[in-house]
Amino acid sequence: MKDRSNFTSKLGFVLAASGSAVGLGNIWRFPYLAAQYGGGTFLLIYLILAVTFGFTLMTAEIAIGRKTGLSAIGAFKVLDKRFNFLGILAVVVPVIIFPYYSVIGGWVVKYFAVFISGGVKASAGDTYFTDFIGGTFQPIGWFLLFLALTAVVVLCGVEKGIEKVSKIMMPILVVLTIIISVYGLTLDGAMEGLVYYIKPHMADVSAKTILAAMGQLFYSMSLAMGIMITYGSYMKKTDSLESSVRQIELFDTGIAFLAGLMIIPAVFAFSGGDRSALSAGPGLMFMTLPKVFASMKFGGAIGTIFFLLVLFAALTSAISLMETIVSVFMDRFGWKRRFTGILVAILAALMGIPSSLGFGPLGFITWNNLSILDIMDFLSNSVLMPIVAFFTCIFVGFIIKPKAIADEVKETGEPFKAEGMFNIMIKWVAPIFLVIILASSIASGLGWFKI
Ligand code: PHE
Repeated sequence: MKDRSNFTSKLGFVLAASGSAVGLGNIWRFPYLAAQYGGGTFLLIYLILAVTFGFTLMTAEIAIGRKTGLSAIGAFKVLDKRFNFLGILAVVVPVIIFPYYSVIGGWVVKYFAVFISGGVKASAGDTYFTDFIGGTFQPIGWFLLFLALTAVVVLCGVEKGIEKVSKIMMPILVVLTIIISVYGLTLDGAMEGLVYYIKPHMADVSAKTILAAMGQLFYSMSLAMGIMITYGSYMKKTDSLESSVRQIELFDTGIAFLAGLMIIPAVFAFSGGDRSALSAGPGLMFMTLPKVFASMKFGGAIGTIFFLLVLFAALTSAISLMETIVSVFMDRFGWKRRFTGILVAILAALMGIPSSLGFGPLGFITWNNLSILDIMDFLSNSVLMPIVAFFTCIFVGFIIKPKAIADEVKETGEPFKAEGMFNIMIKWVAPIFLVIILASSIASGLGWFKI
């Protein structure tokens, strides 16, 4: 990604951006949040936010990147010196996410290894997952392995290869997710779960649900951290920006929806209607899916392929996270790629270890019942991302003005269909909403009140 080459085609751009967007956020994080926050209620709120907020912010970020041809740090500075801080703030986000993301990535590698060595029955045991993450060296070992895999790719800079592999792996992931969901729905009790997942209950709508959906949106679409600005800087001026954004959104949201469909009805089936199973949190995918596979014909083989694909999706996202950090350090300090990559990997290893140990030896460190990993997740998704998103809105709405973005979108000669919505969202709705969200998230995080 060093030389600012363009993506060869619009499809190439959409796939590369989707490679960053589609990851553990869709398959691991979305289902457990949806399970925790009221199923259909969460789903509905998420969908509404995706087509309004998500669309607005992603369009703004990609347009800023394409307009300036620079990554976040340079782009804001070039457009207005006073917003230099925003580029820097945006980079703090991946620095927080990358280490704990790799901890979860390590769990995926572990499950892939267990499945490929025929451990499907064992992995379906009730305490298998909690015993695993409660350990000391095992989870750290798998975490470091995932980190090393990511680092190798970033150091070699084989984006071309990734683009090619994505084209094959992503469609297979979709097909497999559909097969597993359909099978899951045939299990006893799954229908009740399907209803829970699809049917919104207006009475359940709360500030907390909206906050969780918003954090998930930024995270899942890789927004508010400069990644989409960087990707936009590689996009050709002749490709339609608006339809690219729609496609990335559709892809990202579609996979998240399918992942929920695969996991939530199965939770109902295996817990015998015990609703407390829904609040399992980060471990949900790792506890429910092995049970599905264990009860399935050829479950061992299907599970193996499944975890391989999830691993792949996680790697493409982790690579985009690490690449952002590495390229910023390289630009800022003039360091070589190899040195910077190794340094970032070592720092990430050190930062990730506490998150990994937070379910075992460091389990006593909690804050409002959150483990260390959850605290990192809260900090990035519920605090920093809304802050970056807020300033991005102000920047576009009042400094460079929405017209600058609209002009960039219309560069191809096509109309900007959602321009009206974009203008209102970026100037008024989004910033006001973001301030409310941020204030309530910080206040509740500090324990001032429970939302
Ligand atoms: N969007 C990725 C996912 O859903 C995670 C990610 C967040 C990647 C931020 C890059 C930047 O898993």
